Amino acid sequence: MIIASTIEEVRAQVCQWKKEGFTIGLVPTMGYLHEGHASLAKKAVSLCDKTVASVFVNPIQFGPTEDLDAYPRDFSHDCNILADCGIDMVFHPTPEEMYASDFCTYVDMEHLTTQLCGKSRPIHFRGVCTVVSKLFHIVTPDKAFFGEKDAQQLAVVRRMVRDLSFGIEIVGCPIVREADGLAKSSRNTYLNSEERQAALILSKTVNLGKSLIEKGQRDANALTAAMKENILTEPLARIDYVDAVDGVTMQPVSQLKGQILVAMAVYIGKTRLIDNFSVTL
Ligand code: PAF
Repeated sequence: MIIASTIEEVRAQVCQWKKEGFTIGLVPTMGYLHEGHASLAKKAVSLCDKTVASVFVNPIQFGPTEDLDAYPRDFSHDCNILADCGIDMVFHPTPEEMYASDFCTYVDMEHLTTQLCGKSRPIHFRGVCTVVSKLFHIVTPDKAFFGEKDAQQLAVVRRMVRDLSFGIEIVGCPIVREADGLAKSSRNTYLNSEERQAALILSKTVNLGKSLIEKGQRDANALTAAMKENILTEPLARIDYVDAVDGVTMQPVSQLKGQILVAMAVYIGKTRLIDNFSVTL
């Protein structure tokens, strides 16, 4: 597995692969990889001739009071996981390689970024769209792979690719969960044992939401109210949001019909965790 730290190295290698007629896959990550990332990497390797994974904790998608400095990092462990998945090249740039000191060009999206995580993380999606655009320009993949756990990010990236005519296929991959239901996340490492137990309230509430819809609930407010009530039974939980939105536009709905995303962000202690499910009704 090649480890590249500069944009030039990646470009030269990808150029060579393209000359040889290979298709290219990209798996963008912020490292501290878990089975969720491994599932993206394996999917990419199975669908593309050559696959690049990026490991870069992107500073511009963190707000001033967020966990940029604390964000967990373990690059050698990440490399072991990526090599096991059959990744051909890891791109691990420094922040200086990605952002010149006078960097001042951003990709900003309206509408889809105003709800859900966009409400409490106002600059987050601008940072995500900017870094993902840069990675797309550097790696020029045929396909790029993103997890459905970050459902709003996936919708935003799909829209950006359409709006800016990137000509890249975006492949969404299912949420990977721990045996007890907790969605895998690099941030789970922040949880102490009591919080780890309390964090199960997210997946339990996903299951509650799904079962209420299966039983016929079609009123979005009634659904999210019942889900919020359930979350509040957990003393360590503090709700950021629980919302039902249109699966494409990310705008709130009152009736559950068509493609719907039900998403939540919940603080367990100081750790903000997200979970979601999608339904088509
Ligand atoms: O999902 C993530 O880990 C990040 O938001 C991404 C897509 C790698 C951009 O930094």
